[in-house]
Amino acid sequence: MILSAKSQKPETPLSGRVCAPGDKSVSHRALILGALAEGVTEITGLLEGDDILHTAEAMRAFGAKVKRIADGHWQVTGRADRGWRTPKIPVDFGNAGTGARLIMGAAAAYNIKVSYKGDASLSSRPMGRVLDPLREMGAKFEVKKDRLPLKQTKGGKLKPFSYTPPHASAQVKSAVLLAGLKTDGVTELHELSLTRDHTENMLTAFGIDVVRKPKDKGQIISINGPVRLKATQVKVPGDPSSAAFLIAAGLMVPGSDIVVENVMMNDARSGLFEVLNEMGAFLRADNFRRSGGETIADLHVKHSRLNGITVMPQRVPSMVDEYPVLAVIAATARGTTVMHGLGELRVKESDRLAGTLKLLKANGVIASIDGDTLCVSGGPIIGGARVKTHHDHRMAMSALILGLASEKPVRIDDASMIATSFPDFFDLMAEVGANIEVS
Ligand code: S3P
Repeated sequence: MILSAKSQKPETPLSGRVCAPGDKSVSHRALILGALAEGVTEITGLLEGDDILHTAEAMRAFGAKVKRIADGHWQVTGRADRGWRTPKIPVDFGNAGTGARLIMGAAAAYNIKVSYKGDASLSSRPMGRVLDPLREMGAKFEVKKDRLPLKQTKGGKLKPFSYTPPHASAQVKSAVLLAGLKTDGVTELHELSLTRDHTENMLTAFGIDVVRKPKDKGQIISINGPVRLKATQVKVPGDPSSAAFLIAAGLMVPGSDIVVENVMMNDARSGLFEVLNEMGAFLRADNFRRSGGETIADLHVKHSRLNGITVMPQRVPSMVDEYPVLAVIAATARGTTVMHGLGELRVKESDRLAGTLKLLKANGVIASIDGDTLCVSGGPIIGGARVKTHHDHRMAMSALILGLASEKPVRIDDASMIATSFPDFFDLMAEVGANIEVS
């Protein structure tokens, strides 16, 4: 079902306290590691977005028992030494790049044949970045142009392997580490720049000795296999990438004052918050606490007069999903915001670099792309456009946030994908007083 949606300036400032939804990256990993482990993993705060539901279904297809107990509370009984079994039908990842890449990695450790598929957006995204290292480890795939649909024709008995991914990608890193769990010997990953470390953290929580040695600006991660994961409890922290939309709305709508509770504060995910502080945002984190192996905090945000800044390429790994909404925020800042090193945005759920430029220009914002650099000049926003979202949840939400600060409403052609990562987006936005309608 395709739902169009419209956002416009609210008549009163945004206010209130809301709780960030469960983190998508951690939720995928909790289900996958639970399905590999021995025993019953209890997960609370799981994000029940469509991407995660696809991963839950995939884990069932590989033979794990996955049970929903209550809202966000799930139990996974892992396959442990029996190993993942051959799925009877093709495993469908839906829209989820993380689900696809991590699961293909984990399944490569088993001597099974598997067919994989995804939706139109996922089927246009490059899978060679995980298939190449998995092939080098000894897995075999039947695939056209390194895109889904594809088949694993051989897995298991993978070789010890040392890999330096050419892209900074937590998905590629995770695929290789998960593939190496059953390998007899060391699987080693050289990261040239640090990416989100939820796989390493969670493997540690499942009892695995993950060795991490800093090297230059990155690190070397190694696991000496074969290893056995022990079921544990996972409390999923709130998603900073979803909180970003609430924070953006609070910064952009005059007079707003909101608190987003339970946000994961992991250095590898907090780039946007640091950039916003550099731009002059009132954005304060307090009530720091530990939960599920991560630090979480409550973020207090007030409408702020921001200044454009230059965001260097080194920021990309810690805020790779946040650039569309940062560009939207930058449209209200004084001066120009220059964001460098955005090549990876072209291979997300849609080409987010091109999509962000289109979204801004269609709504009267002065913006340009030069190579992998995006420039956005701030000022009053006209709005009024109907934006194509190309099956991309973050483009859909970014467009709707822009409409909260533009003179005329902003419409999107398809809001259905928002449910992949942030099913409560409309409810939480309404709770703080944002004017967003779905039709
Ligand atoms: C993710 C890693 C990032 C990010 C994605 C989630 C993960 O992708 O964009 O939304 O959970 O590992 P890349 O690894 O392609 O940068």
